[in-house]
Amino acid sequence: MARVRLSNVDKTYPGGTRAVRGCSLEISDGEFLVLVGPSGCGKSTLLRMVAGLEEITEGTIEIGDRIVNDVAPKDRDIAMVFQNYALYPHKTARANLEFALKLRRIPRAERDRRVTEAARILGIEELLDRKPGRMSGGQQQRVALGRALVREPAVFLFDEPLSNLDAKLRHQTRGELKELHARVGTTSIYVTHDQEEAMTLGTRVVVMKDGVIQQVGPPLEVFRPPANRFVATFIGAPAMNLFEGVVGSDGTGVEIEGGGRIAIDGERTPGTEVTLGIRPQHLIETPDGIECRVRVCEPLGDETDVMLDGPGEVPLTARLRLDEVPQAGSKMRVGVLPANTHLFGRECGERMESETVVA
Ligand SMILES: Nc1ncnc2c1ncn2[C@@H]1O[C@H](COP(=O)(O)OP(=O)(O)OP(=O)(O)O)[C@@H](O)[C@H]1O
Ligand SMILES: [Mg+2]
Repeated sequence: MARVRLSNVDKTYPGGTRAVRGCSLEISDGEFLVLVGPSGCGKSTLLRMVAGLEEITEGTIEIGDRIVNDVAPKDRDIAMVFQNYALYPHKTARANLEFALKLRRIPRAERDRRVTEAARILGIEELLDRKPGRMSGGQQQRVALGRALVREPAVFLFDEPLSNLDAKLRHQTRGELKELHARVGTTSIYVTHDQEEAMTLGTRVVVMKDGVIQQVGPPLEVFRPPANRFVATFIGAPAMNLFEGVVGSDGTGVEIEGGGRIAIDGERTPGTEVTLGIRPQHLIETPDGIECRVRVCEPLGDETDVMLDGPGEVPLTARLRLDEVPQAGSKMRVGVLPANTHLFGRECGERMESETVVA
């Protein structure tokens, strides 16, 4: 196993696209790190640079104690699993698993040991003599995982390995991946655009936007105190509601554009222009809340997502436990506990911590 270290890594493609900008990151031995961000933010590029499939424009990448910038992919002691399983269609599962081991001239007995072990861990023993064309997507994905597993690499790299699976299977395989990591403990870097996958799989999560790392931390740390407005709205579902406003004269509330006041945690300098964030799960129905108009309701079973028009027609979503689903067009007052508000600078979008106001 190994630690992976990225120092000021930059990637500009020949056409001029700067896909990754100044990324520095240390992935500890045995960690399961998830890179998450919207399409085109540079996740795959970063992963492919670790794999050696893409040249590094600036900076260094170390695997273990070795700088690998100029090391060929096959000599980096990594194994990668892609979204499209890329199994050899004319080979059986066993032959697919063995292929890379044969190339490396691993003796037969050792090959057999590793294939048997991987098949047992992944529960694919009965598939070993089948070809990919006769397997379901989920089974093919497990064989693709097996092919990485038998390599016994120092680092696993995953690029959206579950996105071809249907929702149920994706959920199940996600759980299996987590168990697998708990068992083998290999350092892993996992790319996804799905924030839920990131939160549930990662020991730490890296949120990226436009090639730049926005925040790095354990899942609950990027969820609870998001570093900026982007992370706040990207992590969490439904997305966090945002209101534009100004800190009121006593510093303990925000006057919302379009009307209404929301009490905040701690004090801020009066007159500061802010964006106030509230998660849909934290909105509550309360008589002294701000008045909104119900647009659409989505009953989820236990809870209901209520889409509302807030002050100044700002759309917002509340996830509420309701006995009855409200009518479209009806009025509802919603509020929030001060401790559940998030404040970001209006211009910079950075999180604003509570401060002591100097008179
Ligand atoms: N081979 C390439 N040549 C030129 N530009 C590229 C190449 N591959 C990717 N890019 C560009 O680099 C940027 C980052 O792409 P990348 O594939 O790393 O994004 P991603 O975060 O993995 O997105 P997705 O979630 O869609 O897979 C994008 O603007 C993309 O168009
Ligand atoms: Mg990608």
